Amino acid sequence: MIKAANIQKSYGQLQVLKGVDLEIQKEEVISIVGASGAGKTTLLQILGTLDSPSNPMDCSLNVNGIDVLQLKDKPLARFRNEHIGFIFQFHQLLPEFTALENVCIPAFIKKTQKAEAEKRAKELLDFLGLKNRYDHKPNALSGGEQQRVAVARSLINNPSVILADEPSGNLDSESADNLHKLFFQLRDEFGQTFVLVTHNTELANMADRKLTMVDGQIVS
Ligand SMILES: Nc1ncnc2c1ncn2[C@@H]1O[C@H](COP(=O)(O)OP(=O)(O)OP(=O)(O)O)[C@@H](O)[C@H]1O
Ligand SMILES: [Mg+2]
Repeated sequence: MIKAANIQKSYGQLQVLKGVDLEIQKEEVISIVGASGAGKTTLLQILGTLDSPSNPMDCSLNVNGIDVLQLKDKPLARFRNEHIGFIFQFHQLLPEFTALENVCIPAFIKKTQKAEAEKRAKELLDFLGLKNRYDHKPNALSGGEQQRVAVARSLINNPSVILADEPSGNLDSESADNLHKLFFQLRDEFGQTFVLVTHNTELANMADRKLTMVDGQIVS
């Protein structure tokens, strides 16, 4: 599903990623752990095409059979919209929009018909236990609910992979627990692939494979 080789990233003199190799199979749940500053977010942003490596001529990144480093602006944005789901530590829902509208946004960007997008969004919200929250705006939802809306949003376009950066970092332990179980449920029921960056040991250990980053490299 994802195949990355020799990914490097530097900011000026600071080398943040020092040649990362990574292979992730479909339906795998991978966790990435490591100290603050090890380069986890940087790697996730590159895997998600939100950022690019510093050595494009000398590395490769293939997602779902697509050589993403060859894609330019518009095709790249389209690729990201259709293939990558993102979940962040802070849900990043749009405050002016309802839960249902927030979930629909990536589908609207993809030019899915409104009725079809809303139908799918409702299915997802129902599945995530948010049937009675369609019309709530983010500030009228609990932290755990907001994060589940963000999960629904990440799923709406049936992405090839979901990349999550500290998805439960902002949740109480019970909500975190439920969110973690949900990831595995989505994998088991829908074959969803996940890459989870986390400081949560429990979540990290639940994964099929746990990768540890030290100083810009994956060491296990
Ligand atoms: N835009 C930037 N410009 C300069 N340095 C950066 C930039 N983004 C990240 N860095 C540096 O790169 C290093 C890795 O950052 P990154 O955010 O990937 O770490 P992380 O492993 O996600 O840490 P945390 O667990 O704290 O989230 C850090 O030392 C950071 O200061
Ligand atoms: Mg980070």
